[in-house]
Amino acid sequence: MLEVRNISKKYKKGSDEFTALNGVSLSIGKGEFAVITGASGSGKSTLLYTVGGLIRPDSGEVLFDGTGIYDQKPEFLNQYRKRDVGFMFQQFHLMPYLTVYENIRLTCYARQHLDRIDYYLEKCSLNGMKRKYPSELSVGEKQRTAFIRAIVADPVLLLADEPTGNLDPENSNILMLMIEEYNRNGGTVLLVSHDPGLSANTGRRIILQSGKVVGSSVTP
Ligand SMILES: Nc1ncnc2c1ncn2[C@@H]1O[C@H](COP(=O)(O)OP(=O)(O)OP(=O)(O)O)[C@@H](O)[C@H]1O
Ligand SMILES: [Mg+2]
Repeated sequence: MLEVRNISKKYKKGSDEFTALNGVSLSIGKGEFAVITGASGSGKSTLLYTVGGLIRPDSGEVLFDGTGIYDQKPEFLNQYRKRDVGFMFQQFHLMPYLTVYENIRLTCYARQHLDRIDYYLEKCSLNGMKRKYPSELSVGEKQRTAFIRAIVADPVLLLADEPTGNLDPENSNILMLMIEEYNRNGGTVLLVSHDPGLSANTGRRIILQSGKVVGSSVTP
């Protein structure tokens, strides 16, 4: 479903250049649960952004169901971001001026998505938080809001950047159970994590180092 072919990305500022991704290739099938690990600065977030249609790589291709997402008309990327991908950002990126409910509504584009908001709020123990603003939430509550916003419109691919990074074990567990449920229901997951324990019991594992894939394994 997802194929990354030899992508490279340099961040440039004036004459300064930093190679964040250096010839990364990987492939993920529909319904898989893949985890990317690697040290801070190894390029994990950059890789997730390129896969999510947010950063165009300098070279290489990102193929979604065989189509190069950066080779199409701009409208293709809009649709891809809106319909196919759910993105959980490392820093959440919730809108500070919108409530929890309004933040989640942002990604809904059909009636049936709106109908599911209450179900997910309940599942994530957020029903009392609907009208609160992000600044009034705990980190765990923000992260669960970001999760619901990412999956409420039923994307086929969930890209999650350190979804449990700032959470205590209990909150981390709640969120992982939700992500696993999304995966059991057919969703494909590509998740970035520092936590080696988290990646031990999952399917595909990809290790990044200095912008390169240095290890890859599949645990049945
Ligand atoms: N906008 C930018 N401009 C310049 N350099 C950047 C930019 N974004 C990231 N970098 C650099 O690219 C490298 C890879 O960054 P990236 O955020 O992908 O790493 P990461 O593996 O996600 O790290 P972390 O685990 O700390 O989140 C880092 O060294 C970072 O400093
Ligand atoms: Mg990162």
